[in-house]
Amino acid sequence: MQDMKTEAEQYAAARIEAAHLKVEHPMQPVWSAVDDYFGTLLAPSDEALDAALAANTQAGLPSIDVSQLQGKFLSVLVHLTQARRILEIGTLGGYSTIWMARALPEGGRIVTLEFNPKHADVARQNLKNAGLLDCVDLRLGRALDSLPALASSGICPFDLIFIDADKRNNPQYLEWALELSRPGTTIIVDNVVRDGKVIDAESDDPDIQGTRRMTKMLAAEPRLTATALQNVGAKGYDGFVLAVVLR
Ligand code: SAH
Ligand code: DHB
Ligand code: MG
Repeated sequence: MQDMKTEAEQYAAARIEAAHLKVEHPMQPVWSAVDDYFGTLLAPSDEALDAALAANTQAGLPSIDVSQLQGKFLSVLVHLTQARRILEIGTLGGYSTIWMARALPEGGRIVTLEFNPKHADVARQNLKNAGLLDCVDLRLGRALDSLPALASSGICPFDLIFIDADKRNNPQYLEWALELSRPGTTIIVDNVVRDGKVIDAESDDPDIQGTRRMTKMLAAEPRLTATALQNVGAKGYDGFVLAVVLR
């Protein structure tokens, strides 16, 4: 029978399958307990965050949101960079969007891009419930189709750009991030380590290859300076690329 799933549905199904196939690392209980320790003290959850995660589960979204502490990390980053204009590529249920939007100053805005209509619906409801819909501009469509319109929209340049969608397109997302930035713009990319799979040059996983090509671009790009942060926690072993636009 012909597969009638849309690209967005195929993406979601592959995420859920990958989560079920994953073997837990022996240190995972410790990583999770340490996340709980710091999370409880420094990144306490609340009604809106809990409700967002519950709504995601209820709607069958893959639970690939950032962790609580990673959400707080993004929030700290918004304060650190004094960002007023944020771009997020990959909304899911808006969990990371809530963390960043809450850290915005009065009048700040976040544009977030999502191609799965179900994810976008859940996110809109979650953001509404969190009282944040006014500062969030949620755009439905393939990110590569939505990005060109941002260039001419007057929202640019962004102060902070969070890349967290289909990793195979990370090279293109980095290009766009540069296009939509100014000197000083911070770029952060999620899931660049993937249990260490990133170092496999022969990987047949297009997402790993996408991140590797993006990393090569970072290395060769004189307009940027970048580093990579390995991370363990409630969401396992992964990491971020953190970059700043120089010129
Ligand atoms: N930032 C979210 C998690 C995003 S998961 C959080 O931490 O809470 C990645 C999301 O990117 C998924 O919802 C997926 O549907 C979306 N996505 C994947 N490919 C995309 C594309 N080409 N364009 C736009 N969104 C895409
Ligand atoms: C996946 C994507 C994410 O953005 C994430 O944080 C974790 C996992 C994934 O595609 O499997
Ligand atoms: Mg991610």
